[in-house]
Amino acid sequence: MNVLLLGSGGREHAIACSIAASKQCSQLFVAPGNAGTALLKLSSNKSAVTNVAISPTDFPAIKDFCVANNINMVVVGPEAPLVAGIRDYFESQPSLRKVMVIGPSKVCAQLEGSKDYAKAFMQRHNIPTAAYRTFTTASLKKGIAFLHTLKPPYVLKADGLAAGKGVLILPTLEEAERELTAMLKDAKFGEASAKVVVEEYLDGIELSVFVLSDGKHYKILPTAKDYKRIGEGDTGLNTGGMGSVSPVHFADKQFMKKVEERIVVPTVKGLYQEGTPYKGFIFVGLMAVTNEATGELDPYVIEYNVRMGDPETESVFPRIKSDMVDLLERVWRGNLQQTTLEIDPRTAACVMAVAGGYPGSYEKGHPITGIDQVEGSMVFHAGTRIGNDGQMLTNGGRVLCVTTLADSMPEALLRSYQEMAKITWQGIYYRRDIGQDLLKMIVAKGEN
Ligand code: AMP
Ligand code: GLY
Repeated sequence: MNVLLLGSGGREHAIACSIAASKQCSQLFVAPGNAGTALLKLSSNKSAVTNVAISPTDFPAIKDFCVANNINMVVVGPEAPLVAGIRDYFESQPSLRKVMVIGPSKVCAQLEGSKDYAKAFMQRHNIPTAAYRTFTTASLKKGIAFLHTLKPPYVLKADGLAAGKGVLILPTLEEAERELTAMLKDAKFGEASAKVVVEEYLDGIELSVFVLSDGKHYKILPTAKDYKRIGEGDTGLNTGGMGSVSPVHFADKQFMKKVEERIVVPTVKGLYQEGTPYKGFIFVGLMAVTNEATGELDPYVIEYNVRMGDPETESVFPRIKSDMVDLLERVWRGNLQQTTLEIDPRTAACVMAVAGGYPGSYEKGHPITGIDQVEGSMVFHAGTRIGNDGQMLTNGGRVLCVTTLADSMPEALLRSYQEMAKITWQGIYYRRDIGQDLLKMIVAKGEN
């Protein structure tokens, strides 16, 4: 099978590693890829993985490449090509109809592309989520009146994609009124905030659940927790993600049963019944909220994404032992139910290192040293490139991460940090507290 993977981050390096390990993969191209994907070799025939300089949203260029290189499968890493309709584009082109595109259609991608669409879908299918209403410029007054019915803090969400910045959590009613007005009247997030979802605040612990769906059947992949803020103790600005841990200990059997029954089944079934079967990865961002009556944790959907998470993929994918290309082919053919997912029971801990200054302005092009000293852990590249003299250089805000699989979370974290200490570049920064909140919870529970 000849595979083209779209994307260039740590998520795509991790996906590329799993595809490269498949017995069924005979050629792998990554568009545009990074220095990490360029260094990979396939297990099946030892041939090198090739980066190709094509943007994941340049559909005509992707088409020409697929035809010229006899591509059988296209795996879509980021959301932008999905929201722009890459799957529908392939279906509309006679020369591409046989290519297996792994990722949902444009309609399904609205689950990430429009918060209002996602909320209305959840409401139609009784999927637990925060109570909400959607407003436009014309209904701004009603929006302000609705804010008065809620308790602080106030959650405002730009309807469309806003580069991860479209969600505001505001402590006072005055700020919420001001921001709602800025979003709707002054187009604070451009077209993305032409509609705004105002919703109830959910107090709990977040986690990410991933589902692979073939339209009718599904497999629930390992859970993960990511660390979004730049500073230790979850302080400072939001980033693309500073680390992740998989599995999440509090997502035990009882909790996951609720997730499956209340969220996964109605999501996959609901999309199928509405005539828009979903083929691809569904990322369900959840809040685990303590139910005051039972004392148990109940799952609520915060958001859907129509792709894998980054850096969750860097701790989830190394735990998937099943042949990845076989799984993805089943997604295309609709027979995912005929296979069993094989998962490594160990814990994966991923620590992301970033360029100094990120997520504000930062420099690129600094030489990276020490990757070749890393032992027993995986290094996934995010923003890296190989310079003219063959030197590995930084090429983005999130530069690379180290993931370790170990029998316990403390050991996986310790080893990831030990190996990360061998790597350096000018201005390198990483959080030293990945997983610490979970470890504290485990200790607290043990003492009860
Ligand atoms: P989203 O882009 O919808 O994932 O929102 C970004 C972040 O805002 C989430 O990861 C949560 O930390 C937080 N968030 C979103 N919605 C809510 C909510 N209803 N209650 C509490 N926190 C929320
Ligand atoms: N780690 C969060 C995301 O990928 O959106």
